[in-house]
Amino acid sequence: MVLIDGKKTSEILQSEIAEEVIKIKNNGGKIPHLAAVLVGHDGGSETYVAGKVKACERVGFKSTLIRYEDNVTEAELLNCVAQLNSDEDVDGFIVQLPLPNHISEYKVIESINPGKDVDGFHAVNVGRMVAGMPAFISATPFGIMELIKRYKIETSGKNCVVIGRSNIVGRPMSILLSQKGVDCTVTLCHSRTKNLKAICAQADIIVAGLGIAEFLRGDMVKDGAVVIDVGITRVKSDKTKSGWKLIGDVKFDEVAPKCSFITPVPGGVGPMTIASLLYNTLLSSKKEIYK
Ligand code: GUN
Repeated sequence: MVLIDGKKTSEILQSEIAEEVIKIKNNGGKIPHLAAVLVGHDGGSETYVAGKVKACERVGFKSTLIRYEDNVTEAELLNCVAQLNSDEDVDGFIVQLPLPNHISEYKVIESINPGKDVDGFHAVNVGRMVAGMPAFISATPFGIMELIKRYKIETSGKNCVVIGRSNIVGRPMSILLSQKGVDCTVTLCHSRTKNLKAICAQADIIVAGLGIAEFLRGDMVKDGAVVIDVGITRVKSDKTKSGWKLIGDVKFDEVAPKCSFITPVPGGVGPMTIASLLYNTLLSSKKEIYK
């Protein structure tokens, strides 16, 4: 069984990005610039955004953090997006989600210039991905595809079961895994799927992204399967300094011994997401997606 090391892979990807930035600097080019908009003081969002800003520094990007209080109006936020859209120095930006209830996330995301939507959430980027055109791919699906590639996991003709149909994990994963060149036969399962256990037991590759802790059990997985765990449920723990620990959607101790490859939680898919965002920002600064 190979334990897929997302932390190490993310560090490698980030050092490759840092090398590119050095080359850009040496050639007198413009340094990639990522901006992040954070509304309110949600603990999780603060941590995520701080991690993104820190990662920018690590690879030599310029970063800008724009903060608003919870009571910012939708119009003010849309105005901020419009300014970032037209700011020629900003290559890409994200608006950290979730937003307060009085602001439409959908409206905000759709107001972002798709050419700067390095989160890959805008319908134009989703549509371009579905059509197999160059697109910004959102961080989690991009990170998983990168792990599959870098660990040279065979995909052509393999039976792949994706559990969960969310817009940011399951649905894009089902599309990316079935695209030409990857060539999996994909079954997308969800809460209404019948005989899930029997379907999973046929799978060469399982992507578990339904958000139920330790859902995938040993008896649902065939010998030699590849298991990608996208779950991150936070549970109280008296064994960690923070008082919390992260649990995946896979019952690791039952499933791992049967696998050819498996991602752990933490340290699997999670660390790849920041590297994905940086990679998209680099692509944007090089005008590689939108010419
Ligand atoms: N909230 C949780 N994950 C994400 C993400 O990847 N992007 C944004 N914008 N918000 C998030």
